[in-house]
Amino acid sequence: MRIAMIGSGYVGLVSGACFADFGHDVVCVDTDIAKVEALRQGEIPIYEPGLSSIVTVNAAAGRLVFTTDLTAAVSQAEIVFIAVGTPSRRGDGHADLSFVYAAARDVAEALDGFTVVVTKSTVPVGTGDEVERIMRGANPEADFAVVSNPEFLREGSAIEDFRRPDRIVVGTGDQRARTLMAQVYRPLYLNEAPIMFTSRRSAELTKYAANAFLAMKIAFINEMADLCERAGANVQDVARGMGLDKRIGPKFLNAGPGYGGSCFPKDTVALVKTGQDHDVPLRLVETTVAVNDHRKRSMSRKVIAAMGGDVRGKTIAVLGLTFKPNTDDLREAPSLAIIQALEDAGARIRTFDPKGMDAARELLPGVTFCEDAYDAATGASGVVIVTEWNAFRSLDLPRLKVLMATPVLVDLRNIYRRKEVEAEGFHYESVGTLAPGDAERLADAAE
Ligand code: UDX
Repeated sequence: MRIAMIGSGYVGLVSGACFADFGHDVVCVDTDIAKVEALRQGEIPIYEPGLSSIVTVNAAAGRLVFTTDLTAAVSQAEIVFIAVGTPSRRGDGHADLSFVYAAARDVAEALDGFTVVVTKSTVPVGTGDEVERIMRGANPEADFAVVSNPEFLREGSAIEDFRRPDRIVVGTGDQRARTLMAQVYRPLYLNEAPIMFTSRRSAELTKYAANAFLAMKIAFINEMADLCERAGANVQDVARGMGLDKRIGPKFLNAGPGYGGSCFPKDTVALVKTGQDHDVPLRLVETTVAVNDHRKRSMSRKVIAAMGGDVRGKTIAVLGLTFKPNTDDLREAPSLAIIQALEDAGARIRTFDPKGMDAARELLPGVTFCEDAYDAATGASGVVIVTEWNAFRSLDLPRLKVLMATPVLVDLRNIYRRKEVEAEGFHYESVGTLAPGDAERLADAAE
């Protein structure tokens, strides 16, 4: 099939490359000439495991082409995916749809023959109706159907998620569109990924509902972690016990420093706004947003407490800056809030991240960027693991201890075992677990 992908950002590039890999002919369009030039040279603007080789192989086979010429790409396509950004609108938190609407207008003017126009960008419920209205206004003669097909892939495992999705959601009432969408995803549902057809509005809302629910799951387990710390329980055991209940499931129950990234923070806020627009207050989602914002800030207090209550003039090593491993993305990363708060408390920060340092340099001018974890820990009164990169999972603790001023390890991702770290002579703090004896001390204090 002939596909035009409008927008060569995260979703557009991954989807475009993967569709080409299925054997479709894909033209990825972007307005950024420098980006298009770079992609033509095989340079990938984002870090995503496996993406580079898929782009190279399919570009070499002629199935994946990059261009700034939207008109040519659209006029030859049977399916046009709109995968442009929908950032938070400054001031009110609504999704900013200006890029989607501009793309819709341009696409409408370039259509030639029946074409399925698919919004892959995350857009609020009802956006498809507006896209259709704009396109109809721009080109009253055009023959097209507007479909919603939200993308659920995660950064860092985007290729795997695209190839093996839990489901494909397609929102359309148009039979011709349904047939073409089934064709484009044929290689996937042959792999047994369920393809679900529904109304356009239901598809649009499904994406927000899924993201908000996952965000809520994380905020919930983080609250349980706080309670575990006070009540002398272990959040990992609680999460495991909960997750074995098939109705709950084990995933997204890892307590940590709060969720970040390009989706959960933005989409939860936008869903709250949509609720307000429809006069349906979404209190659980509102609370999730508030709990997570508070969570990021409160992690700095945990670090300060672990270091004896005062970090003024002390050096702290922060390991991991990106909002999660296997990405170079720093958007809404808990590290930013934690570092800011520690600097405000008078600490000096040394840091290392395998992929996030280039972007971080501008955002964190007062921070020292280091060669590796050991370099960052040199002279530090505490090491804080903020992102669970594999490189931090098996640190040489004796070596670390020799380099540090005081052996304190704050593990905000629970990737170490307390016993092992304490056996090396460290003071160890994690999330939602207590040192043996702490529970008894708490109980005594409460009496
Ligand atoms: C998310 C959704 O998972 C994906 O379906 C959607 O398309 C885009 O948003 P992404 O933001 O790439 O994907 O990352 P994800 O793996 O979902 O993690 C989001 C945040 O939640 C990260 O900051 C991560 O550290 C945090 N998280 C995740 C936890 O704190 N605990 C968990 O158990 C899981």
